[in-house]
Amino acid sequence: MVNIMEKLKLGIIGYGFMGHEHVNALEKFENAEIIAVCDNNPQQLEDAKEGVLTFEDYRDLLNVEEINTVIIAVPNTLHKEVSIAAAKAGKNIICEKPAAMSVEEFDEMVKAAEECKVLFSIHHQRRWDKDFRVMKEVYDQKLLGDIYLIKSQLYGVNGNMHDWHVFKEMGGGMLYDWGVHLIDQMLDMVDSKIDTIFADVQNVINKEVDDYFKIIIKFKNKVTAEIELGTYYLVPDRSWFMGGKKGSALSNGFGQNGKIVRTRHLLENVPGKITMSASGPTRSFGPPEPGLLYEEELPKVEVSALDYFENYWNALNGKEEIVVKADQVRRVLTFMDAVRKSAETNEAIQFE
Ligand SMILES: NC(=O)c1ccc[n+]([C@@H]2O[C@H](COP(=O)([O-])OP(=O)(O)OC[C@H]3O[C@@H](n4cnc5c(N)ncnc54)[C@H](O)[C@@H]3O)[C@@H](O)[C@H]2O)c1
Repeated sequence: MVNIMEKLKLGIIGYGFMGHEHVNALEKFENAEIIAVCDNNPQQLEDAKEGVLTFEDYRDLLNVEEINTVIIAVPNTLHKEVSIAAAKAGKNIICEKPAAMSVEEFDEMVKAAEECKVLFSIHHQRRWDKDFRVMKEVYDQKLLGDIYLIKSQLYGVNGNMHDWHVFKEMGGGMLYDWGVHLIDQMLDMVDSKIDTIFADVQNVINKEVDDYFKIIIKFKNKVTAEIELGTYYLVPDRSWFMGGKKGSALSNGFGQNGKIVRTRHLLENVPGKITMSASGPTRSFGPPEPGLLYEEELPKVEVSALDYFENYWNALNGKEEIVVKADQVRRVLTFMDAVRKSAETNEAIQFE
C-alpha cells in the first residue's frame, strides 16, 4: 500500500450536498487539505473556497498531480465509473455509500484499486455515530447477557424524498440511501454469520423507489435483529432496542440518550396475579411490582465526525487497519440483494 507522510491532498468529485459537507468537515482535520472540487453543474462551484481549484470534468481533476486522494460524492450510479478512473490515475479513494449499484460493480472497483495499488474505502462514517457506538458497547461488553433481539428504527416525515433520490435510474430509494447505513451498522455490531433474512420493501408514496422497509435478520448466534425505516411515518423517531436475558437497553435519538433497565429477579414462573387494563383483565402485562425494575446509564462513548478520516489517514500511513473493509462493504451489498429478493418473492432467504 502507498505510504504517504504528507497530508491528504484532496480532490472532491461531486460538489453537491455531501461534497460541501466534506469540505466543511475536513477544514477541522489537520491532516487534510482541499486542493480541488469538481461538479459538472457549474453553479455548484460558485461557492468554492478561495484558493481551491475548480473543475467541471472529473478527468481534469484527476490530472492534478498534487492530489493524492479523491472523495467521490456524485450520484450512486456514477460511483463505479469515477472510482475506476481515479484508481487508474493513481489516486487513493474514499467513495460515498452505497459503494456501488451491485456486488458485480463493487468487485470491479476493488479489482481496479488493487491493481493500481491505491487505498479504496467507502464512507461508512455512521459506524462512528454516537447512538450506534453506545449500543455497540452494550453488545460488545455483554452488558445484557445473551441477546435475543436488537431493533434499529428510523422514522421520518419527509415522505417524498428529494432530488435524484426519487429516480430509480440514478440509484434512488431509501435502501440505497439510509438503508445501507442501518444495515452496515447492524452487520458490524452482531459478530455472527446470518441464517435467514426476511424483508418487506414498499413504495408508500413514491412512484419509482422504495420509501419504507422492514428487515428481519436471524443470525446464527441466535440474535434476531430488526431494521425498520419509514420516510412517511409521520412520527419521527430514531431509536434502538436491545433485549438480553440480563436486561433491556433503549437508545433515543442520534446521541447519547437512553437507559438500561434491569429486573431484581427474573420472573420466569410466578403465580398469576390479575390486574385490570383499559381492555380488561391481564396476568402477564400489568404494571411491574414497585421496586422490581431499576435503571442504569448507558456506557459513555467519545466519537467525532472526523474519526472516519482519522482512521483512513492512519491506514494510509500503515499505522492502523482500515475500519471500513472491502469484504464488509461487499457483504452489505450482497445482503441488500437478498433483501430485494425476499421482498419480491415474499420468502425468507438463506444467507450464509
Ligand atoms: N455518507 C453519508 O452520510 C451521505 C449523506 C448524503 C449523501 N451521501 C452520498 O453522497 C453522494 C452524493 O449525494 P448528495 O446527496 O450529495 O447528492 P447531490 O445531488 O447533492 O450532489 C451530487 C453532485 O454531483 C454532481 N454530479 C453529477 N454528475 C457528475 C459528474 N459526472 N461529474 C461531476 N459532478 C457530477 C451533481 O451536479 C451534484 O452537485 C451519493 O452517493 C449519496 O448516497 C452520503
